[in-house]
Amino acid sequence: MDIRITSGRLKNARTKAVISFMFKEQKKLSPDIQEIDEILGGSVSKLKKDLKFDGSFGKIITVPALGKGKTDFVVLIGAGNKKDFDLDKARRLGAAAVRRMREMKIDKFLIDGEALSVKDEQSEIAQALTEGIILGDYRFDKYLSKKDSFQIKEVQIRVSRKYKAQSEKRSEIGKILAQAQNFTRDIVNEPGNVITPQKLAEIAEDLAKEYGFEVKIYDEDEIEKMGMNAYLAVAKGSANPPRFIHLTYRPKKSKKELVLIGKGLTFDSGGLNIKPGDYMRWMKSDKAGACAVLGVFKAIGELKPEITVHGIIAAAENMPDGKSYRPDDIIKAKNGISIEIGNTDAEGRLTLADALCYASELKPDAIIDMATLTGACIVALGEYTAGVMGNNQKLIDQIIDTTRKTGEWMWQLPFNDMLREHIKAPSADVYNIGTTRYGGAITAGLFLEKFVDKKIPWVHIDIAGPAHNTKGWYYHPKGATGFPVRTITTFLLNQTD
Ligand code: BES
Ligand code: ZN
Ligand code: ZN
Repeated sequence: MDIRITSGRLKNARTKAVISFMFKEQKKLSPDIQEIDEILGGSVSKLKKDLKFDGSFGKIITVPALGKGKTDFVVLIGAGNKKDFDLDKARRLGAAAVRRMREMKIDKFLIDGEALSVKDEQSEIAQALTEGIILGDYRFDKYLSKKDSFQIKEVQIRVSRKYKAQSEKRSEIGKILAQAQNFTRDIVNEPGNVITPQKLAEIAEDLAKEYGFEVKIYDEDEIEKMGMNAYLAVAKGSANPPRFIHLTYRPKKSKKELVLIGKGLTFDSGGLNIKPGDYMRWMKSDKAGACAVLGVFKAIGELKPEITVHGIIAAAENMPDGKSYRPDDIIKAKNGISIEIGNTDAEGRLTLADALCYASELKPDAIIDMATLTGACIVALGEYTAGVMGNNQKLIDQIIDTTRKTGEWMWQLPFNDMLREHIKAPSADVYNIGTTRYGGAITAGLFLEKFVDKKIPWVHIDIAGPAHNTKGWYYHPKGATGFPVRTITTFLLNQTD
């Protein structure tokens, strides 16, 4: 799909369909649509009236030009109330537009970004539309024998001439971000029989080759030598051996050094504390954090920020077996802390514990981990919002601030000393479960805290809810969402300002 920025009158657009927007507050058609309406003999305003189109968000009317204008169709989409408008709504509208075009089998269209402009933010709107179009057109159809072969070929995003150059730059960034997010969705959507820890390592190696990253893959023996026994315990029950992945992006000039860690459970059956059937479904997505790290690397490989970034994935599969680790086992993590196992289904924090120790030894300026860590986080915040925790309020604020533009919802969950009491173990330094049923997302975060060097700012993002969904929402089809690739990449880009 080719996305271009254009400016000029709508009536002169050379494409198959022109898509414009109307806010609820808008009484009249925009001057550009007005012109087209005149050419079409008033059919836009007639249909608008007949169908009682009032600019309600997402409502669409399609007006056939019947050979009168330069395009085949004029489409109006409601943008809702102007005062409530934000960039994520532009993303949703971009997705709605591309989906309607796909339904109508129109492979070339223009979308009127200027019509969405409330203030001086047309380039940001152009970026959000670009993202919405690419994200909204995503499908995971690789295993279907009957695929929809229709492809959108050319999309023009129209802005006023004044903002054209700036919009081109922004749209290019949007394209890279959305494609990286789709790359993440593609890997998360692959099932556990395809993506094993080894396969995840190969994807990291392919990325390294493509973009010139450093990459080091550690096998089981090396993981053992490094003393990562918590991680190793989780991997023991699987026929697919673990792989510890360390990617590094090193630019010539570097202003900071950051580590990204992603939970990489290629499948989570729960282990000996096996998950009941319904809860085991979709556990192929327990590698979403790892895949988000890979997506961010794809984006920074393209955008090349002046900041050193490490990507760390302790990839494993959690399975029941004669060799599996068991409840009551006591194991020692890389930093010497002993962990008592309360439940083998709380495996993510064990793999992350050793990854956090390893990351701390790199002495970076900050560590960010992303993990589909707890069902409790979904209970706390709902399935569309990630929980954010950590040891540094400034870093937490920066990340949550970034989401205001990216539309990837995150909210902070508070640590407190009372909950710290809840991860005390009967016979070891720390328990891998909370001793009450409450605050499970936070006790998981507090567990992780024990493995981070206190001097290093660290943020943990629990993405159990938004990384995957069974229904589809906004610009996400059902399945993997690619959350939070855009937020983390945007955050990294902002670090060099
Ligand atoms: N991978 C799950 C968390 C999860 C649940 C992700 C639902 C996505 C959707 C994690 O490993 C897990 O099983 N956590 C347990 C922890 C409990 C045993 C302390 C949970 O949340 O129930
Ligand atoms: Zn689990
Ligand atoms: Zn898990």
